[in-house]
Amino acid sequence: MNRPYTFINVAMTADGKIDTFERKGSAISSKRDKSRVDELRAAADGILVGGRTLLDETPKLTVKSEALREDRVRRGLSPNPVKVGVVTSVANADIPLESDFIKAGPARVVIFTTNQTSKDKLAELTASGVEVFVHDAPRVDLNSMMQTLKKIGVDHLMVEGGGTMNFELMRLGLVDELMLFVAPMIFGGANAPTPADGTGLLRDAAVEMKLMDVEKWEDGGVLLRYKFFSS
Ligand SMILES: NC(=O)c1ccc[n+]([C@@H]2O[C@H](COP(=O)([O-])OP(=O)(O)OC[C@H]3O[C@@H](n4cnc5c(N)ncnc54)[C@H](OP(=O)(O)O)[C@@H]3O)[C@@H](O)[C@H]2O)c1
Repeated sequence: MNRPYTFINVAMTADGKIDTFERKGSAISSKRDKSRVDELRAAADGILVGGRTLLDETPKLTVKSEALREDRVRRGLSPNPVKVGVVTSVANADIPLESDFIKAGPARVVIFTTNQTSKDKLAELTASGVEVFVHDAPRVDLNSMMQTLKKIGVDHLMVEGGGTMNFELMRLGLVDELMLFVAPMIFGGANAPTPADGTGLLRDAAVEMKLMDVEKWEDGGVLLRYKFFSS
């Protein structure tokens, strides 16, 4: 494959929402699920988030457990996977150099953007150690991005949302696996984000998957694991 093996991990409510209508990054995972996610991060070469998640929440995207970080180092890896952000246009005030996305680590930080990001901002990011890839297109070309990630050593990529980014990657057939933690709670809200938003597909174009595994947890959560036919 000329792209990384790619899996999406999502925490959603029983009514299929990945955040409330406020879109402030509400906690959905249980304690056990947070540990599982940390293990997934520790096993990945890179962790990718879409522009809204990155700009609104500036997530750390690091491995929380010291033991897991040490284990990575023992395996000859950096303590944390490569952090990957996909942003159409980074405004001058966006992703401050002191933000968790850039500073929390140590970790290699990569941003894919377009020529809508100003040259000043590109220079600022590069000067602070961020590897920036600029696409001459209205939006980041996700096929080309995947090839670049593979070339820079990301063989195993974890995608952590949000709904727009997940949908585009799935629509393009760039995802191998989907892991869904379903929490026993309801957010409601017609405008609350879901695991796959974007423009949506007609029935005939639905992305098909195969259910591989179902786990029922004592904390009330359910873990679902799917493989994509298209990958
Ligand atoms: N529960 C969970 O597991 C979880 C995980 C992560 C996030 N979330 C939630 O998800 C919500 C954010 O999701 P979101 O859908 O608004 O945003 P998103 O998926 O995080 O980011 C999408 C943005 O990425 C940019 N982008 C650049 N190139 C793109 C391309 N080729 N295809 C698609 N997007 C591209 C776009 O910016 P432009 O529109 O400027 O082009 C787009 O708006 C938040 O509420 C967050 O808390 C939940």
